[in-house]
Amino acid sequence: MVLANAVKRDEKVRPLLQVENLTKVFGGGRNEVVAVDDISFAIAPGEIVSLLGESGSGKTTTARMILRLSRPTKGRILYEGKDINEMKGIDYWRRAQTIFQDPFSSFNSFYSVHSFLGKAFRLADNDFSEDERRALMEKAMEDVGLNASELLFKRPHELSGGQRQRLMIARALLIGPELLVADEPTSMIDASSRVGILNMLMDLSRKHGMTIMFITHDIGLAYYTSDRLLIMNEGRIVEEGSAEEVVERPTNAYTKRLLADIPTLRRKWDT
Ligand SMILES: Nc1ncnc2c1ncn2[C@@H]1O[C@H](COP(=O)(O)OP(=O)(O)O)[C@@H](O)[C@H]1O
Ligand SMILES: [Mg+2]
Repeated sequence: MVLANAVKRDEKVRPLLQVENLTKVFGGGRNEVVAVDDISFAIAPGEIVSLLGESGSGKTTTARMILRLSRPTKGRILYEGKDINEMKGIDYWRRAQTIFQDPFSSFNSFYSVHSFLGKAFRLADNDFSEDERRALMEKAMEDVGLNASELLFKRPHELSGGQRQRLMIARALLIGPELLVADEPTSMIDASSRVGILNMLMDLSRKHGMTIMFITHDIGLAYYTSDRLLIMNEGRIVEEGSAEEVVERPTNAYTKRLLADIPTLRRKWDT
């Protein structure tokens, strides 16, 4: 017990993820776009954090840098104190996984669900037999509410957007990351099953200590799921605090505007 507490305190000293003065500039001259403008924040192990902002505020660009899919123009990202751009890709991607907002672009029409999910095993430490793989894939599919026996050998164009998005989640869960970066994870999922998917992700965080960073423009999603909110506007973090603090006592003018439709929040999630 004492030991567990000591570890906890130590984890507070060292966040899982630290973003330091992160900047991303696209293009140059008259076409220059400062998509991310000198942002810094930290995420503790097991925390659920939302990066919340309107379309074009720089959220996906931030997510791509955190996932090592794009290099910062300036600044750095530390994972357990190590610069992610100095780690081996496979070592990092074993621990940090994503669910992207556009599932269409992540699937090659040639692949079946089985081969898509099977790729996750490339990142696995263990050697699984074909039967074990199959069982794990089916379990992951059932966990996200997909009928494995019906869908396992379907191709992307035979699935709905929502099914593809669930499949992205299943794939991420199969890898079992410590950090999950979920960029608009439910944008393609119908409202009626959205809460179920979010609950499932939150449950995984609670049970396995999975750290989640939600990237979203949906205040309801952010408030409902998150311990902490980071509000992003025009490439900058303009406000940061616990979900309650930010929603109930916003200090920044932009946050206040963003929260103008807060009265709809509770109603939205009650149904
Ligand atoms: N590859 C790119 N090349 C040029 N500009 C980009 C690129 N990706 C994003 N941007 C620009 O950066 C800004 C932030 O985009 P993005 O990170 O996608 O925002 P969000 O995810 O919050 O909607 C936008 O102005 C967008 O047009
Ligand atoms: Mg985006």
